[in-house]
Amino acid sequence: MSDPTKTTLNLKDMHDLSVVRMLAGNQRFVERMAAEDPAFFDRLAQGQTPHTLWIGCSDSRVSTDVITDTDPGSLFVHRNIANMVVHTDFNVLSAIDYAVNHLKVQHIVVCGHYKCGGVAASMEAAELGLIDNWLRNIKDVYRLHAGELDAIEDKDARTARLVELNVIEQVYNVCKTFTVQKAWREHGRPFVHGWVYDLKSGLLKDLEVNVSGRRDLEEIYRFDVDKNLGAAH
Ligand code: CO
Repeated sequence: MSDPTKTTLNLKDMHDLSVVRMLAGNQRFVERMAAEDPAFFDRLAQGQTPHTLWIGCSDSRVSTDVITDTDPGSLFVHRNIANMVVHTDFNVLSAIDYAVNHLKVQHIVVCGHYKCGGVAASMEAAELGLIDNWLRNIKDVYRLHAGELDAIEDKDARTARLVELNVIEQVYNVCKTFTVQKAWREHGRPFVHGWVYDLKSGLLKDLEVNVSGRRDLEEIYRFDVDKNLGAAH
């Protein structure tokens, strides 16, 4: 009888397995970098000083480093389904706090993408399970902009516009955090941007919602940062 604690997969015999290809790819990466830039690994091992926090979608086609042609060490990355900034999500809030207060990033980019499965699913009535709770945050964005969205007859165009509006709302969700408002007051950073990646062209579109101060926020979301400075974190 086979031992149930032992895996029955023999990776060495299954060279077509994706994970085996990944490990082989890692070997090629190490060899290439050692040839191109011998100090590469020593340099990165000393620490990171990324200039930007990137909040993007988990979609496998939107590889942050690749589409921005940036080197490792440049971007601090947080990805989740549909690039959401949910104010009860300690994961994204921790990433923002660490990036702003410890890594001292100059920029935060929220990047969505057209053909986003999460955004498309949020527009359907089908029950999908646990993920429905996450997608409900996108439904809330739809509700805020229902007038504009309902007027778009073509479904693909309506989904694309919701992708854009969702990015804009997440930009504002970043700015509603005390972490960001305090950093604006103390350091004049970060600048928060909203972009959308077009899978068909490979191009990034700047939605030009470049928020950099409390004046850009509706009053109800503005903290009295001066009064709270030193008292809250
Ligand atoms: Co997506």
